[in-house]
Amino acid sequence: MFTRLHSTGIFGIDAYMVEVEADISNSFPSFEIVGLPDTAVKESRDRVRSALKNSGFSFPTTKITVNLAPADIKKAGSMYDLPSLLAILSASGQLKPDCDLSECAFIGELSLDGHLRHINGMLSMAIEAKRHGIKHFFVPKSDAYEASVVDGISIYPIDTVAELVAHLTGETTVKPQEKPNIGSPFFNCPDFFDVKGQTAAKKALEIAAAGGHNVLLIGPPGSGKSMLAKRLPSILPSMTFEESIETTKIHSVAGSLPQDTPLIVTRPFRSPHHTVSAAGLSGGGIIPRPGEISLSHNGVLFLDEFPEFSRQAMEVLRAPIEDGKVTISRASGRLTYPCEFSLVAAMNPCPCGYFGHPKKKCICSPMAVKKYLGKISGPMLDRLDIHVEVPAVQYEELTGRSDGETSAEIRARVEKARALQQARYKGTKVTCNARLTSELMQNYCVLTDDANRILKAAFENLGMSARSYDRILKIARTVADLDGQEKIGASHIAQAIQFRSMDRKYWSEL
Ligand SMILES: Nc1ncnc2c1ncn2[C@@H]1O[C@H](COP(=O)(O)OP(=O)(O)OP(=O)(O)O)[C@@H](O)[C@H]1O
Ligand SMILES: [Mg+2]
Ligand SMILES: [Zn+2]
Repeated sequence: MFTRLHSTGIFGIDAYMVEVEADISNSFPSFEIVGLPDTAVKESRDRVRSALKNSGFSFPTTKITVNLAPADIKKAGSMYDLPSLLAILSASGQLKPDCDLSECAFIGELSLDGHLRHINGMLSMAIEAKRHGIKHFFVPKSDAYEASVVDGISIYPIDTVAELVAHLTGETTVKPQEKPNIGSPFFNCPDFFDVKGQTAAKKALEIAAAGGHNVLLIGPPGSGKSMLAKRLPSILPSMTFEESIETTKIHSVAGSLPQDTPLIVTRPFRSPHHTVSAAGLSGGGIIPRPGEISLSHNGVLFLDEFPEFSRQAMEVLRAPIEDGKVTISRASGRLTYPCEFSLVAAMNPCPCGYFGHPKKKCICSPMAVKKYLGKISGPMLDRLDIHVEVPAVQYEELTGRSDGETSAEIRARVEKARALQQARYKGTKVTCNARLTSELMQNYCVLTDDANRILKAAFENLGMSARSYDRILKIARTVADLDGQEKIGASHIAQAIQFRSMDRKYWSEL
């Protein structure tokens, strides 16, 4: 007898349908699985055989062939244990013959005793199954909550093979997973209200949030750089549903989605340690997994102690910062993961941390300072749009009351500025000012005469690079948007130039 069942597979963050076929013929007993990478076949065969027996069924002593199609995509084998087992049961007449499985799909790794185990990438697979008209999706209990975010498909949490078979044959009923409660986006997010003083740095982060720009924070130890960076997600616009789904898919595939979070509604904040490898940042592995830059998609990537990151790590960042996506090539294929993140890099001005400090003395030699700052290459420095100094907080500021605003107040301004950008760039691929192309800038970054004069003077007298010029225009565009002005005025351009002045203070003699 022959049976065909639906299942799903995952490639990168996108899922595809998989057909699981079982054929049972009356000849010499054997058990073959085809369509899986060689290494996974044996293990899968062993698990299916044991789980089937230990769930109270008999393993057919005939020739069994299981085929997983399409065969040309390298599949991670273990999640087809369940559909393979079911196809064998059905083809060997151990499921009721009137069991219609044409609108059902099955997925899950099995333990030897017939329990279902967690698999990664459940959200993407549920979306794909629904697109293909699947009505009932049977998945491991631990993954049902995640899949249930998708509307229009019933997700059944399955604990054991025996439980599933009892449901399919009508002996008992497994209830579909209830829809999840999606939490509030800014619950648990640290708030800007806690940060005392640091007006300039707060303003810089507001501009970064409003235009999607990258930021470099420079300051002595303990001045609040980490504290400020952690609060950036709280002033970024609320995530759209599409952004939530895309970010969740990445975390689901990477296996880093918390069990109680079926949908990520708070922008991610990732802060990999400076010892992270290049592959850890960009993604990698035999079947490549998303790296830190993709895990921070639609959120914030914070690189603390920036000069301590390896040269390779800094190198792999460069292209993705511009492109918003990263491509990983492996023998198993080329994969592209999205990675549109806001980058916040933080550093001390020198190895001891006190270079340029008003009170404490820097003990580093000029050579040491030069070497330290030199670890950040020119092209990388250019990509960090906004440079801002975070000086040591004064005692009075720290002990005084916070006169600061809450993140919600700042976010309201950010969302207004973003709405202006969305209206302006409608019909183009640009999503925010930071992603403006040179051609579009001609149309959308129109300066007043005064602003033009200031920019010209700055360019001629301060020796700015062409890229730096582009950055200044984009930042000025955002400053003007926060101000509700369509034309970029003198004060907007002056603020933007200010954010690029550190090049000269720290990097000029390098
Ligand atoms: N502006 C501030 N307002 C309130 N508290 C602050 C401020 N700046 C620093 N602090 C306090 O000091 C602590 C250390 O700050 P933080 O870790 O952000 O410093 P840092 O600049 O990242 O230092 P390092 O260079 O050592 O990493 C914070 O957890 C906070 O308690
Ligand atoms: Mg810090
Ligand atoms: Zn020093």
